[in-house]
Amino acid sequence: MCGIVGYIGSKKAKPILINGLLRLEYRGYDSAGISVIEGTSISTFKNKGRIKNLMDVPGINDLSGKIGIGHTRWATHGKPSSTNSHPHLDNENKISVVHNGIIENYSEIKDFLIKNGYKFLSETDTEVIPNLISYNLKQDKQNDALKLLRAIKKTCDALKGSFAIEVISSILPNNIIVVRKDSPLVIGKGENENYISSDIPAILSFTKDFYLLNDFEYAVLSENDIKFYNSELSPIEKQVKSITWDATAAEKDGFEDFMLKEIYEQPKSIRETIGSRIQKNSNCVIDDLLITKEYLSSVNKIFLVACGTAMHAGLASKPIFEKLCKIPVEVDVASEFRYRDPLLDDKTLCIFISQSGETADTIAALKLAKTHGSKTIAISNVIGSSITREADYSLYTHAGPEIAVASTKAYTSQIILLDIMAIYFSEILNICSSEEINSIKQEILDLPAKLEAVLKNTDKIKTFAKNVYKEKDIFFLGRGTDYAVALEGSLKLKEISYIHSEAYSAGELKHGPIALIENGVTVISIITNPVTAPKIASNIEEVITRGAKTFVITNQNLENSNFDELISIPNINPLISPILSVIPMQLFAYYISKEKGLDVDKPRNLAKSVTVE
Ligand code: AGP
Repeated sequence: MCGIVGYIGSKKAKPILINGLLRLEYRGYDSAGISVIEGTSISTFKNKGRIKNLMDVPGINDLSGKIGIGHTRWATHGKPSSTNSHPHLDNENKISVVHNGIIENYSEIKDFLIKNGYKFLSETDTEVIPNLISYNLKQDKQNDALKLLRAIKKTCDALKGSFAIEVISSILPNNIIVVRKDSPLVIGKGENENYISSDIPAILSFTKDFYLLNDFEYAVLSENDIKFYNSELSPIEKQVKSITWDATAAEKDGFEDFMLKEIYEQPKSIRETIGSRIQKNSNCVIDDLLITKEYLSSVNKIFLVACGTAMHAGLASKPIFEKLCKIPVEVDVASEFRYRDPLLDDKTLCIFISQSGETADTIAALKLAKTHGSKTIAISNVIGSSITREADYSLYTHAGPEIAVASTKAYTSQIILLDIMAIYFSEILNICSSEEINSIKQEILDLPAKLEAVLKNTDKIKTFAKNVYKEKDIFFLGRGTDYAVALEGSLKLKEISYIHSEAYSAGELKHGPIALIENGVTVISIITNPVTAPKIASNIEEVITRGAKTFVITNQNLENSNFDELISIPNINPLISPILSVIPMQLFAYYISKEKGLDVDKPRNLAKSVTVE
């Protein structure tokens, strides 16, 4: 949440900052601003709304400074407004700060500063930072090059909460100073120029070489150099990481929206996730995961912990773990897990799933599991993300950058990676027949071609979306893994079309929700399991009798039923069917959002990575 960007070099900073902010806009888009060092003073421009509003602020195009910082905001403290947008300055306009995160003890600090004569203009938590730096500067009687850095360190030591902070100051006009704690920040190294960003894709067109900061590490950037310091301000060395992602992968590539592009990328992203992890006639290989038979045999529970769509990926994968590994699996929402005192010890294996790798609740849940001696595995799409630096083992989905706020290709890649992990564990435990394992492996290898087939056949989904986009409520039904997909379909619809929707396990319908079914209500069902297909078909008949419009996605032979619309998908083992059956759900939500004329990639109130609790 919130995106921050910075530039220091020989070029004009403003166009580079705006370019970076446009790419980070998915992290927050209620207001934006930049500060640039012009000679010896700081010029700041802000505006409410999207980055394009910032670009229209009179005078912004006259900026010629070569050092600057920028911010796109997702409001936490204080409504979206020009005054509340970042950067925030100290009372003397000498220190400018952008911040991503939340300062939990800001009101205490604010009271202290007010008592010491400071005035506040905004309702934000962030404004205490430049003023506390200013206060700390005044307390420091030493006059050397590290004075500003010391004041920033002293300030950060006093902050509670999470932060990624960039500071520029007219008293050190040739540097940018950055620091982070529990919020993302990367530094891009260029030729005679350096960049700062909340994520790698935003500055990938400028550099492929990055430094990753750990909590409470400081960096002092100049045009030709970056100096790193630890939490005690002792100089440290950091290794540069080179990223292999292609910058064009983060572009729209001819698609109208990132979300549509990412939906259509799924055959490719699934291939990338499978990579060489599955091969015919040999055991699965998961590099970097050192799990022994002795350890796995001792595991009495697996926790799959995540938020939102990533949690739905956990739900979709629970059955394959239980079936192939015979270990009970619990799927938990990270924000619940971290506060519910879960039963954890060295016999519980905890797997944390996060596309961004920056979700505050998921990271906190992982830290909790570690304190109880559980082994932790992180699944992420972002190399070097915070969660991967905390876990015992980190596995990457390799789905490529996902820009649209609504997650699509990351979800399917998470499921496939979890499925491969279940097979890998099962092979280590040696508890399933090789026929069973080989047939699932073959189905996984066949998946990209099946996804391509589903993606070629979208007319019916488009027409159905046109027919129902004005609805106020839509229901989703499924059983087993189809229920997990129903939950994800319902979430996608809520996120980008703002239509209220609920997902139910079809067997639960009669226990209450059927009271909501009346003439004209839309019910969408997913059916991929031959065992429960007749049961859910009867459940659908029950809603038809009560006047519902029905839309069914299935690979079962249900052609002669009374459904209003039926989408056929290829045959597939129900254990891995969510990867296929979710595609019509994603497209359905997408087309409805388009029919309603909404911003598909940047839905209201949402942000791509949720770095606050
Ligand atoms: C997905 O469409 C959502 N925007 C959201 O639920 C997301 O999956 C959740 O916030 C978790 O994010 P993460 O995978 O980056 O941890």
